[in-house]
Amino acid sequence: MPERKFQTKNICHGGDYNPEQWLDRPDILKEDIVYMKESGCNTVSLGMFSWSTLEPEEGKFQFDWLEERINTLFENGISVFLSTPSGARPKWLADKYSEVLRVDANRQRDLFGKRHNHCYTSPIYREKVWIINTELAKRFANHPAVKLWHISNEYGGECHCPLCQNAFREFLCKKYKTIEALNKAWYTVFWSHSYQSFQQIESPSPRGEDGIHALTLDWKRFVTEQTLNFYKMEVESVHAWNPSIPTTTNMMYYYEGLNYFKFKDAVDVVSWDSYPLWHKKDDYAIGIDVSMFHDIMKSVKKKPFLLMESTPSVTNWQGISKLKKPGMHELSSLQAVAHGADAVMYFQWRQSRGAFEKFHGAVIDHLGSSNTRIFKDVSKLGKLLSDFKDIAGSECRAKAAVIYDWENAWAIAEEKGPRNQGMYYKETVLKSYEALKHLGFQVDVIDMECSLDGYELVSAPMLYMFRAGMEEKLEQFTKNGGILITTYWSGVVNENDCCNLGDTPYKLSHVLGLYRSEIDALYDEEENSLVPADNNVLFLDKQYICKNLCELSEVETAEVICTYGTDFYKNSPCCTRHKYGSGWAYYIGTDAETPFYHDFYEKIIKSHGLKPDVEFAIPENVIVNVRKKDDRKFIFVQNFSSDKQEVELPKELEKHLVYGTFGSSIKEYGTLVFDI
Ligand code: GLA
Ligand code: ZN
Repeated sequence: MPERKFQTKNICHGGDYNPEQWLDRPDILKEDIVYMKESGCNTVSLGMFSWSTLEPEEGKFQFDWLEERINTLFENGISVFLSTPSGARPKWLADKYSEVLRVDANRQRDLFGKRHNHCYTSPIYREKVWIINTELAKRFANHPAVKLWHISNEYGGECHCPLCQNAFREFLCKKYKTIEALNKAWYTVFWSHSYQSFQQIESPSPRGEDGIHALTLDWKRFVTEQTLNFYKMEVESVHAWNPSIPTTTNMMYYYEGLNYFKFKDAVDVVSWDSYPLWHKKDDYAIGIDVSMFHDIMKSVKKKPFLLMESTPSVTNWQGISKLKKPGMHELSSLQAVAHGADAVMYFQWRQSRGAFEKFHGAVIDHLGSSNTRIFKDVSKLGKLLSDFKDIAGSECRAKAAVIYDWENAWAIAEEKGPRNQGMYYKETVLKSYEALKHLGFQVDVIDMECSLDGYELVSAPMLYMFRAGMEEKLEQFTKNGGILITTYWSGVVNENDCCNLGDTPYKLSHVLGLYRSEIDALYDEEENSLVPADNNVLFLDKQYICKNLCELSEVETAEVICTYGTDFYKNSPCCTRHKYGSGWAYYIGTDAETPFYHDFYEKIIKSHGLKPDVEFAIPENVIVNVRKKDDRKFIFVQNFSSDKQEVELPKELEKHLVYGTFGSSIKEYGTLVFDI
């Protein structure tokens, strides 16, 4: 099997290009190329919604228009990410073969319409996708313009049709072997829901079973597996014609429907579509949230990734379609590069005239001119990215990791109690992530299946469910000298969402020197506080607010750092540390406010002599990232505030500045880039 690494000499810049919408306007198609070159767009994603133009009738193919476009793009030095069109099927296909239409959880079959609405199990849908992909690959897989297969588009959703039910039962049968084993694992004895055979099992439904949490979890695992299997089928269909072209599929922001980490071996390069709600609240809060997702994307393969879509101006599907303020386009695009993206791509190149997305922003809007703010922003970025071509391929290595696990998120969302709304799993992970970034660390954001080897610090907040041997990995990590940070609501259940018996966090109480006893859920308007213990080992000396959840624990051998300030558990421990082997295990018992996280991590870093990746103080609103290639280092310092930000940078950095203005401040939404 040939090596299929995605490699690019330049940072890719461009976007979704839908020429099938303009085939009656050769003047516009011609103009597209002129504008692409003018704006420094060197790559387009082509063909993702072209199926009905490519195959207007079953078995009748019409590819000349696409060939003309690919040839013209190539002649003009523009590369192609060629998409398979499975994300939206033609009407003839839905009309002739109704099994391709999706069935919802209420067991109602969809009509034709929308997109991303097909059954992934349907043998007919798979066959038709295979055929169109084969035709595409036969014709274009060896075209020199084609650099990457963009497989489908934003896979998502689920189907509850009879075919999917059967596939689900087979998945369960393979996993549990006997119905007795399944009943035991799922705890179906509860409410008398035991099964006598696999044939009786139905996917979760608001009209049926929704109380067996293990069923819901296994269904979600099945949906991921079935989608991945569909992806692999698509990859096989195109690789039959040239196995050396790498593949990707574009992922979505914290999309809960698919466990993206399961795609790690199947995609050659990770890509995602980012549409933050800039300017909705403070842009640093939004920026750091996007940073964490960029770092998830970087961590799936521990490789550079692609920003496959972003809007050059507005979206049209968010409640409010707000313009990006001057500077935000550059800031958010370079943010992706700073985290390891080798592409900044847009949805879309030219704004559609009609239908659903006619008001979605595009590089060329309905005015059809290059004399627009957006076009100028895009062109300026294009120039910048071409100056930064050496950055392509450089990696972002981290000695700190934060764990964010999709299956754990599913389980927390399903569980009943202790707070049925507002467990704040992602937000809690983000607090640790943000504190580490603020202290100058590069951070990997990994799941429970990833190895912990090579990290000096691992933060594992709210790992309600332990799976994939998490307890052993965390124990070993600590024993071998690692710094572990855990929190409340950890190690409560096993991978089937059944509670662990005995001491919890499961098999880690001896590592933490304590065990959990109760957890108090607070009403939204309530709060408690963390009060530093006298002479505590971290020298914390301020009080901090906590909300939502207060876990009570029995401390055995841990050292108490903070205790609760009020309520009947006043003075009982809510933050501790414990030496285990040659490492240290910290525990935070409650949902503490951000300043706590800042101070807590700062003291930990100091106490254990950990060295951040950047050695200057990072001011508020600023995010710093480092990419490395051989012995070269690229440092990005970005100001996410609409005001200029004071900064004290070491003087010796000045000679390495390759972008921005060196001084005592960074301008609003400004970026500095250093090449060392
Ligand atoms: C998604 C899709 C695109 C487009 C954009 C609009 O990311 O992949 O086809 O609809 O949203 O923001
Ligand atoms: Zn189905």
